[in-house]
Amino acid sequence: MAREPFLAGNWKMYKTGDEAVKFIEELKPLIRGLDDRRTALAAPATALRQAAEAAAGSGLIVGAQNLHWAQEGAYTGEISASMIKAAGATMVILGHSERRQFFGDDDALVAKKLAAALAAGLLPVVCLGENLAEREAGRAFEVLAAQLQGSLAGATPEAVAGLVLAYEPVWAIGTGRTATAEQAQQAHEFLRGRLAELFGRPAAEATRILYGGSVKPDNAKSLMERPDIDGVLVGGASLKADSFAKIVRYDA
Ligand code: 13P
Repeated sequence: MAREPFLAGNWKMYKTGDEAVKFIEELKPLIRGLDDRRTALAAPATALRQAAEAAAGSGLIVGAQNLHWAQEGAYTGEISASMIKAAGATMVILGHSERRQFFGDDDALVAKKLAAALAAGLLPVVCLGENLAEREAGRAFEVLAAQLQGSLAGATPEAVAGLVLAYEPVWAIGTGRTATAEQAQQAHEFLRGRLAELFGRPAAEATRILYGGSVKPDNAKSLMERPDIDGVLVGGASLKADSFAKIVRYDA
């Protein structure tokens, strides 16, 4: 079964609501007519409503970059899955390495956040990836296996089939140092194999696995050609509409 290509941008802590609208208005004509793939943007919480309104009717998916696992409560500074939905967004990134590194998001917390996202009907994009020391010590796959099992703990095979996974080696994020397409393919193939062991082969074959880490217009195509790379999660190169559009049109 063919998995639909999934091209996603992660704006991180960039763009106000007005800047998001300007970007989306610029992007829409550049990606019009591409019905064989999904395009998504993860915006800052304060830009979600405007981004969702600008994207309405275009097929462009708008998502958040994090959530709190509770529905509501005394959690100053946090936002819940239902608040994200109410703002018009339909996706959420979970467990990004910057959350894991700077904000204490560990696998157990990611699993709780995943349950909240699924309960609310948001499309989760669950991120994982080894750091440089782990790769150099030959422990990359061991780390990935643990992160996968921990972050997806409690999810059903049906949920796993529908969600998006993002392999983002920490050493390739914002460094200009992309994993080679072959390194990424090996990690994706490993992850799909582990998914099959944990959730069954049909679920594993359906899960879309994205690669993230210094994806640019000139390397997107070679990554996308690999059998287990179903899409990309783009940081820096998603901040300008023309460069993001080139990535979305990787095969043009
Ligand atoms: P860069 O594309 O800037 O390396 O960021 C990747 C990333 O973290 C996407 O989530």
